[in-house]
Amino acid sequence: MPAEIIDGAAVATKVRAEVAIAAAALAKHGIVPGLTVVLVGEDPGSMVYVASKEKACLEAGMHGETIRLPASTSQAELLAVVDRLNADPAIHGILVQMPLPKQIDSQTVIRRIAPQKDVDGFHPVNVGKVLIGDRDGFAPCTPWGVQVLLEAYGVKTTGMECVIVGRSNIVGKPMASLMVQPGAHADCTVTICHSRTRDLASHTKRADLLIAAIGRAEFVTGDMIRPGAVVIDVGMNRVDDATAKAGYRLKGDVHFESAKQVASLITPVPGGVGRMTIAMLLKNTVRAAEMTAPAIRAGA
Ligand code: GUN
Repeated sequence: MPAEIIDGAAVATKVRAEVAIAAAALAKHGIVPGLTVVLVGEDPGSMVYVASKEKACLEAGMHGETIRLPASTSQAELLAVVDRLNADPAIHGILVQMPLPKQIDSQTVIRRIAPQKDVDGFHPVNVGKVLIGDRDGFAPCTPWGVQVLLEAYGVKTTGMECVIVGRSNIVGKPMASLMVQPGAHADCTVTICHSRTRDLASHTKRADLLIAAIGRAEFVTGDMIRPGAVVIDVGMNRVDDATAKAGYRLKGDVHFESAKQVASLITPVPGGVGRMTIAMLLKNTVRAAEMTAPAIRAGA
């Protein structure tokens, strides 16, 4: 029987509705949660993501703005923008869109963002908090979104073999941090695979929960998947296609057609994990705003 397909759009809509309620509760106390996205350069993919982040903020009754800087921006100039945002009490969340141009060291920029405004969850303080299971930290939006999808579909992850393909700081490593924690929607035995892993398929075929985040279109094929596995595809690869209106199509890291014949539950691309990333970003921003006024919570 083909796999059930996870409806990421529906789950994301629900999360965004919860965020809007929390934002409205804060607004009653004169706090409008504010997110500033900083985009350096004109990477076409980043421009699309950034526009949707701003729109999503406004739809949730939050303040959302984008600072667009030229590709020639120096590291010092970008750090000065971050400093200004750190000091602005109306801005609760700061997101510097990655990747950055070559002249800028992304880790230096990430470390400059105040941890309490780091709604991306990339600052070492938040990375550490997530790793030790401290719920005060901001979990990175995409891995957290994956976990919320698993929860929404009632996946009992306790004791599962979770194999993550990809070791990026944005997805693979924090995904492992979340899934290895004790507690609901985690409690997995986690393996991280990457480009140097020997016999990759021997690992992926063991997985009860397979999470693909390697950035290579249709890399994971059905024959690499254990029958009945839950397959989560984090990939968003643009593949040229002259027949598509945009001139390209979005493809995941998983070969969907072959994988869905083997898996029990699978995310599509688009319409799967991608929608969750922005929803969780809004949620982190509302949390950041709530943390500036601890007495105020949704429904208060
Ligand atoms: N580039 C791709 N994904 C992300 C993300 O989640 N956050 C930031 N800041 N940049 C990205």
